[in-house]
Amino acid sequence: MSEPMEKIRVENLNFYYGDKPALEGISVPIQERQITALIGPSGCGKSTFLRCLNRMNDTIRGTRVEGHVLLDGVDIYARGTNVVDLRKRVGMVFQRPNPFPQTILDNVSFGPRMLGLAKNRKDVADIVEESLRGAALWDEVKDILKKDALSLSLGQQQRLCIARAIAVKPEVILMDEPCSALDPIATLQIEELMQSLRKDYTIVIVTHNMQQAARASNYTGFFWMGKLVEFAPTEAIFTRPSQRLTEEYVTGRAG
Ligand SMILES: Nc1ncnc2c1ncn2[C@@H]1O[C@H](COP(=O)(O)OP(=O)(O)OP(=O)(O)O)[C@@H](O)[C@H]1O
Ligand SMILES: [Mg+2]
Repeated sequence: MSEPMEKIRVENLNFYYGDKPALEGISVPIQERQITALIGPSGCGKSTFLRCLNRMNDTIRGTRVEGHVLLDGVDIYARGTNVVDLRKRVGMVFQRPNPFPQTILDNVSFGPRMLGLAKNRKDVADIVEESLRGAALWDEVKDILKKDALSLSLGQQQRLCIARAIAVKPEVILMDEPCSALDPIATLQIEELMQSLRKDYTIVIVTHNMQQAARASNYTGFFWMGKLVEFAPTEAIFTRPSQRLTEEYVTGRAG
């Protein structure tokens, strides 16, 4: 097996909300076509970090970034970066499923249409089917594509949001606690889906669920008060962490 490549390299990242530092000195590699899980107690900076990877924090006033985030070796914070193109390459799935209040079809076809990836009806139909299949939702919705997306179950809505994310053919998918609003069965469906998506995409997932991180990811980063305490292959984090704090957290004695 060949060594995985680095898709993203974060170097000495500091992040501030006003004067308040939220991330300090974060350096971490994100391997291509692997699942990287981010864990740590509430408020430690996981979502802030995730949003640094596609510059979603830019939309929050009074924030400041220092350091570098290299995507395929190119700094996404460099002057002249096209942020729309960046967010196409690095897509995001949120904690609460947030489909547009439109049809299932429109939810998936909106991005490709906007970005000119689909030129005619046939292209649209193809991308919609491919994306819904990719998100393991096609069989459940193929006969109701014109129905309101909000009529789906929460688990289906989250898979629809994943279909919407992959419809624009991103390279990286960021997921911020994508299962926290879902029941255990829908959660397992999303975890299975992540395993199949890993063949084509680099995935970074924030989770509060230790079992999920242990089961579903290849690498795990443990954050604590804005710092990355430890980053290692998932198995090492859960069986032989090098830091005492990591051990206390993953065994439930800290946090
Ligand atoms: N929009 C914001 N404005 C000001 N401070 C913020 C903002 N968002 C987050 N923070 C602060 O930054 C720190 C990190 O927050 P963040 O949401 O990244 O943590 P988290 O690890 O994702 O927590 P949780 O597990 O609860 O989602 C916290 O102290 C939080 O209060
Ligand atoms: Mg968060």
